[in-house]
Amino acid sequence: MNNVPVTLSEKIGRDLHRNPSHPLGIIKDRIEGYFKERAATTGVAVECFDNLFPVVPIVNNFDDLLIPPDHVSRSPIDTYYVDDKQVLRTHTSAHQSTMLGKGLEAFLVTGDVYRRDEIDRTHYPVFHQMEGVRIFPGLLESRGSREDGVKEVEKDLKEALEGMVVTLFGDVERRWVDTYFPFTDPSFELEIFYNDEWLEVLGCGVMQQEIVRRAGKGETLGWAFGLGLERLAMVLFQIPDIRLFWSTDERFTKQFEAGKITTFAPFSKYPPCYKDVSFWIDKVAGFNNNDFFEIVRGVGGDLVESVVLVDEFVHPKTGRASKCFRVNYRSMERSLTNEEIDVLQEEVRTQMSDALKVELR
Ligand code: PHE
Repeated sequence: MNNVPVTLSEKIGRDLHRNPSHPLGIIKDRIEGYFKERAATTGVAVECFDNLFPVVPIVNNFDDLLIPPDHVSRSPIDTYYVDDKQVLRTHTSAHQSTMLGKGLEAFLVTGDVYRRDEIDRTHYPVFHQMEGVRIFPGLLESRGSREDGVKEVEKDLKEALEGMVVTLFGDVERRWVDTYFPFTDPSFELEIFYNDEWLEVLGCGVMQQEIVRRAGKGETLGWAFGLGLERLAMVLFQIPDIRLFWSTDERFTKQFEAGKITTFAPFSKYPPCYKDVSFWIDKVAGFNNNDFFEIVRGVGGDLVESVVLVDEFVHPKTGRASKCFRVNYRSMERSLTNEEIDVLQEEVRTQMSDALKVELR
């Protein structure tokens, strides 16, 4: 029942977001600062948390948020299970209910979140999110109808978040896109026009009343948002690869200063080294990409830049399916030798045939 690799559990406690001179900590501090300032005008204090443990009850991560029992995101293909009752949180929304239950009216929760996913320069199995929640005691009563109350909450939500974006990016063009989350209704994404493209910044919405009710707050209206810190930091600091956030190389760490958003100067780009692996998939066992990606991550660690499917076909006579993946290795800190990568790739192949029931070609 535990599918958390050691290389990932080692990341628990690194707390990049709690380092005030790390890009993730700098962004976190900026956003917290913005909301604290805004709180001075609304009169509702915002409480900030950045130290909540990432292992949470399954119930908090999914059920409390009305995510249905058969929802894909619950699958061990996508989620890391610690045991039959706990997961590594897949989003900071996992803390919405418990924090509301403690009686908080407005809070921010920042932390590391975990998802099994593909491998490329914007995806890493652990990343960081910030959750924001505000409830409005007495608003429903003063507005009379739920509909009017919801409109008011939506307006405050949008004002708050547009203000936040302006604090981070300056007065950029913004647009609201309707979307769906099980835990909010209505639900939106905020996009900004930055560096010549529309960039999705966050998801948010008016909280589902059932969540608030179950947390013991009855018919009180509220909003919630969640955003990914790496995504914002990569654009704001011009950090080209998500693995860099984990680098302890001084050429990375020494570039940042608490309170300042600066442009990252890449140190020289080292040459890549790629290796292909082709295999036949077992008809009964099937094949899941994420299982393969995890083996590659486990063996290659941060030397793996990306994994790309380069070929896929079904044999016309036998009906067997074949896939070919290209594993791109590149260190951000040094040149790799072909010999050392051959050793890694051989280990990938060994683990594949042991664990994935594939027939290597
Ligand atoms: N939890 C959502 C995600 O990870 C983001 C979100 C938070 C959306 C709160 C709406 C409200 O994508």
